[in-house]
Amino acid sequence: MRILVTGGAGYIGSHTCLELLEGGHEVFVLDNLCNSSVEAIKRVKELSGKSFEFFNCDIRDKSGLRAVFTKARPEAVIHFAGLKAVGESCEKPLEYYDNNLGGTVCLCEVMQEFGLKNIVFSSSATVYGRNEPPLSEDMPTGDCSNPYGRTKYMIEELLKDIYASDNSWNIILLRYFNPIGAHKSGRIGENPKGIPNNLMPYLSQVAVGKLAELSIFGDDYETPDGTCIRDYIHVVDLAKGHLCAINRLEQSKGLEVFNLGTGHGYSVLDIVKAFIGTTGVNLPYKITPRRAGDLAAVYSNSQKATELLGWSAQYGIERMCEDTWRWQSNNPTGYED
Ligand code: NAD
Ligand code: WQD
Repeated sequence: MRILVTGGAGYIGSHTCLELLEGGHEVFVLDNLCNSSVEAIKRVKELSGKSFEFFNCDIRDKSGLRAVFTKARPEAVIHFAGLKAVGESCEKPLEYYDNNLGGTVCLCEVMQEFGLKNIVFSSSATVYGRNEPPLSEDMPTGDCSNPYGRTKYMIEELLKDIYASDNSWNIILLRYFNPIGAHKSGRIGENPKGIPNNLMPYLSQVAVGKLAELSIFGDDYETPDGTCIRDYIHVVDLAKGHLCAINRLEQSKGLEVFNLGTGHGYSVLDIVKAFIGTTGVNLPYKITPRRAGDLAAVYSNSQKATELLGWSAQYGIERMCEDTWRWQSNNPTGYED
């Protein structure tokens, strides 16, 4: 299939492009590089041994999108492009609504103009808000604690409304849990700009000596060791989930929602111990007060994806830590070197 990947230069997008190319798909990447590097594209080409077109374009630029669609003639879109920093979304909500929500409206309008109605969207477990885990697709959504999360919820609703108005659209909403890890080659991985907000990039930058110490946000939660529990999923497993979603789009019509998680929860201390255990590196850490907005436990029920997509996560936390470390230690300054 000819697949347009918006945000394809980013962390999850680059890993997905590689899986799509290896799965025999034709890939076109559209990205404005606001949170990524063209080096990731180069490395995906190098790893796959295949060439593909990259369009430096913003999803809010309608005439730019039209030119891309005319050239690429995609049969489906995987839509990763968006801003994703929770804290920043609280400081700059308009930027998040404009980029994520406005950008998606623009993208869907152009898709409609071109008669293209197949889309896979990157949603997030954040749409479940405070539901009790394990979280499953039929639970109520929308109780999000920050503007970033609300953009994900609103985009889901927007896509549901498009489908309700025209059921010849084929839409898959994928709700990711906590992606970590990197491709086994150590050539592509997560490359956050500035100081990381998320646990794994922060932890690996401490391990490589870029940051002094990891702060563990709270050890007084109602969990077995007092630290928060999350459903960490290897980014390559997540990328493979998109390949399954594309296959599903080809076979089954409609709008469907799937969780992509492992179904297992690990605490912050479990991750720290697994990282030290698998890599042997020194990892200074301290316990600090809770971070506002964090929930004690978030993990998935991912049975639906297993049953209907034929997908399940293969990699455990040791492998997630090993691959993160290979990427981080081989590329201490990310794509900048
Ligand atoms: P990322 O920042 O690495 O990738 C997003 C990409 O989109 C970047 O390359 C960025 O340059 C591009 N982009 C942003 N705004 C754009 C615009 N207006 N036009 C064109 N390109 C634009 O993030 P990621 O971790 O790879 O996340 C990919 C998607 O998955 C995002 O939509 C994110 O919200 C969602 N998601 C991520 C996580 C996570 O923890 N990483 C969890 C759940 C959902
Ligand atoms: C994981 C755990 C922290 C950093 C966020 C978004 C969510 C989704 C994934 C996109 C928590 C703890 C973290 C640190 C720590 N993104 N932590 N020290 O908060 O589960 O989810 O990313 O959709 O929407 O909210 O991920 O990696 O930030 O935190 O102790 O320096 O690690 O308290 O328990 P989170 P995270």
